[in-house]
Amino acid sequence: MIKFTVITLFREAIEPYLKASMMWKATEKGLAEFDFVNLRDFGLGPHKSVDDTPYGGGDGMLLRCEPVFAAIESVKEKDPQAKVILPTPVGEIWTQEIARRFARVSDVPTQHYIILCPHYEGYDERILSIVDYKISLGKYVLTGGELPALIIIDSIVRLIPGVLGGEQSAEIESFSNGDNLEYPQYTRPEDFRGMKVPEVLLSGNHGEIAKWREKHSGNA
Ligand code: ADE
Repeated sequence: MIKFTVITLFREAIEPYLKASMMWKATEKGLAEFDFVNLRDFGLGPHKSVDDTPYGGGDGMLLRCEPVFAAIESVKEKDPQAKVILPTPVGEIWTQEIARRFARVSDVPTQHYIILCPHYEGYDERILSIVDYKISLGKYVLTGGELPALIIIDSIVRLIPGVLGGEQSAEIESFSNGDNLEYPQYTRPEDFRGMKVPEVLLSGNHGEIAKWREKHSGNA
């Protein structure tokens, strides 16, 4: 079982995805659990403020330390083992290999990840002292950590044994062995508007099919 606690100001932007399809099935099967903490609950003053202007000047607002630390500590109080993930464009680039590492839970009964979703222009650098993993989804800048949080969650949860229909689909799929890209696949009909399924795939010759797939996979 892997548990995710998402600290965000925009739960409504994340929750519908986790209540659909495979993510929902994973929770139904007790393989994953999703929880939310509203950063606003830890805001300062009458306006529950969570951000402020940067020292030294500059555009935009930064997430302040106090609400972020209080929110993370409120989760860690109940589970000191929980690991904190910060989506940030300057983090380590997320890959299938890292997702697999995060999905490996054999050493603890419940792996618990806290994902802190920054918003606005950024965060106070001192927040990094409470973060275990800085993760980037790519060399581009998004408005917040909500989309990265969903991508991180999805790519981990689908690797938990029992989440995908065919037990082995996650294993044999693209990227599972290093960086190889998946081979082309076809289903019925055999001929669609003149575009035909390659003959070898209809042959029933498993050796030849395996060879064809290897040759046509992205790493060939
Ligand atoms: N926050 C904003 N942009 C991001 C990115 N590319 N990856 C992760 N977190 C982000």
